[in-house]
Amino acid sequence: MKIKSKVLIIAGSDSSGGAGIQADIKTVSSLGSYAMTAVTAVTVQNTTGVESIFNVSPTAISKQIEFSSKDIRPDTIKIGMLANTKVINAVLKSILKIKVNKIILDPVMVAKGGERLINKNAINILKKKLMKKATLITPNIPEAEILANHQINSKEDMIIAGKKLLKIGAKNVLIKGGHLKSKITYDILLEKNKTIIFKNRKIISNHTHGTGCTLSSAIATYYSCGKSLKRSCEIAIKYVNQAIKYAPKYGKGHGPINHLNAVNIKKKFR
Ligand SMILES: Nc1ncnc2c1ncn2[C@@H]1O[C@H](COP(=O)(O)OP(=O)(O)OP(=O)(O)O)[C@@H](O)[C@H]1O
Ligand SMILES: [Mg+2]
Repeated sequence: MKIKSKVLIIAGSDSSGGAGIQADIKTVSSLGSYAMTAVTAVTVQNTTGVESIFNVSPTAISKQIEFSSKDIRPDTIKIGMLANTKVINAVLKSILKIKVNKIILDPVMVAKGGERLINKNAINILKKKLMKKATLITPNIPEAEILANHQINSKEDMIIAGKKLLKIGAKNVLIKGGHLKSKITYDILLEKNKTIIFKNRKIISNHTHGTGCTLSSAIATYYSCGKSLKRSCEIAIKYVNQAIKYAPKYGKGHGPINHLNAVNIKKKFR
């Protein structure tokens, strides 16, 4: 298989393998691109919850970003968990230094089981500085509520919150609808003058660990290959949907999805 593009992932490690940097690498690889990483935190977790978090120092994060990019230049950057203000500032400085313009920012704040992954000051800096540098931000509903300061109970509320985020400086916003109580999931992409609603039937499943990380990495991969933002979102959503459908049903809690779903294995290797 010829490798199509290079994606730099700046995110936290999930020891259970279903979310975080592990989900990101699996996604980028199974969609045919090359994954590079800067680990921002080491989380100790399994499908039942997060046991502990060890943050990586801002210097170590910056060095990973700058030293690897100096040698192999990424086409796109995907940013996930950034735990505190110092980490966000370090990442901001480093991404400006390496001058990669295509940036997909997943403003991770809370884990699937409800554990907080970022502190309050950090949310402020993320909103005031980092968000404005990203090509696209991909908050889930609770994250969009915090960033836009607007409660979301419907798809109309999602649109209002998204428009507020554009107004305060986001370039493009995809609000993910996995948390909305409805039979349909709405993922809503807001560009400057356009709102696009992606609709899917909600799959009833406990195995949705890492859907958000996976989605933003899939978008970053398609976008790095030259597809438009809209098309990248559209097919990334399909990829996640299939990955939920064919989840391996591992673990006693929120189990992982099937990232290998997009790989076409030739019959003789099965
Ligand atoms: N039960 C489901 N059925 C179908 N699609 C889903 C389901 N849950 C989530 N999705 C899709 O998964 C993607 C990620 O959305 P979600 O709102 O779950 O993100 P998230 O909360 O950031 O995930 P994570 O908990 O992994 O951080 C979206 O495209 C959403 O529509
Ligand atoms: Mg998420």
